[in-house]
Amino acid sequence: MSALTPASSSAIPKAEIHMHLEGALESELLVVLAKRNGIPLPSYDPEVLDARYRFGELQDFLDVYFGNLAVMRTAEDFHDLAALYLRRARENGVVRAESFFNPMVHVRAGVPLAAVMEGYGAAFADARRDGLSCDLILDFTRDLGAEAADDMLTQMAPFRDAFIGVGLDSTEVGYPPMLFREVFARAAADGLHRTCHAGEEGDPEYVRQALDDLHVERIDHGLRAVEDPELLRRLADEHVPLNVCPLSNVALRAVDRIEQHPVFTMLDAGIAATISSDDPAYFGGHIGANFAALEAVGASRDQLIGCIENSFEAAFIDAAERGRHLEALRVAVTG
Ligand code: HPA
Ligand code: ZN
Repeated sequence: MSALTPASSSAIPKAEIHMHLEGALESELLVVLAKRNGIPLPSYDPEVLDARYRFGELQDFLDVYFGNLAVMRTAEDFHDLAALYLRRARENGVVRAESFFNPMVHVRAGVPLAAVMEGYGAAFADARRDGLSCDLILDFTRDLGAEAADDMLTQMAPFRDAFIGVGLDSTEVGYPPMLFREVFARAAADGLHRTCHAGEEGDPEYVRQALDDLHVERIDHGLRAVEDPELLRRLADEHVPLNVCPLSNVALRAVDRIEQHPVFTMLDAGIAATISSDDPAYFGGHIGANFAALEAVGASRDQLIGCIENSFEAAFIDAAERGRHLEALRVAVTG
């Protein structure tokens, strides 16, 4: 392997720690599932469906994303979606996957929680048998409120061994982290890891609340932290990882142009930024494409390999596994 193998290459091992399984629903699979379950779609041509993916802001995306999820009905559907993502992830060099799943939307659509967990669980078990290290993280829909999140955590009790942590997603502004203090405390008491979308559209106070009220171990996005130098210093000093998704931020217009992405400011400030794909079916590609987009605007190989190291450091894995991944990365990078 050449010493110059770019960070985006699938030959460089990676951890993907900020992606939503429901966001891996490619249009081809969307059509298959719609036909399988008799659910109407605005078109059955994947190209026409993809052409709808032009978003003005987070909420535009969420409307399409939640609409498409109506096709998910059976354990087989959840299996097929997760299996598709896990295959793509491996093709991109992912050796550790920590994937959000959000059962709230499915349960509210009348899908039994057991079907969701059976399907996702089977795909993850298959991937593990094939040598991929992977785990699920339960995400709560923040705009459904804290009581609904608490109820979901209760419903997940029979599946406690199937996930390793909790997170918060969906509409951010108007639903600050502090609202979810109690459910996150409950999750922590149950030995679950904690992460939270904050600072994607919300101001730096959302990031501060995620730290102080939810005691999260890492932040998903965290972009707007760069507006607050004191917060940025704190995130660096406390080694809080910010799980950045460059193509998502451009697609949802949190960032005007990729060359202006705050990840460069974060890295200059000593922040442990990581790179992931968020919703790869909607934002223009998987984790490799996200690295390639940063390479194309001048991110150095050292900066990006540093982000990969940060992702292994940030991953919810034990020290022995962390050491194995970091050593494999060192070997791949030095050739
Ligand atoms: N932000 C908020 N909610 C989400 C996202 C995101 O990027 N992706 C899936 N749900
Ligand atoms: Zn996300």
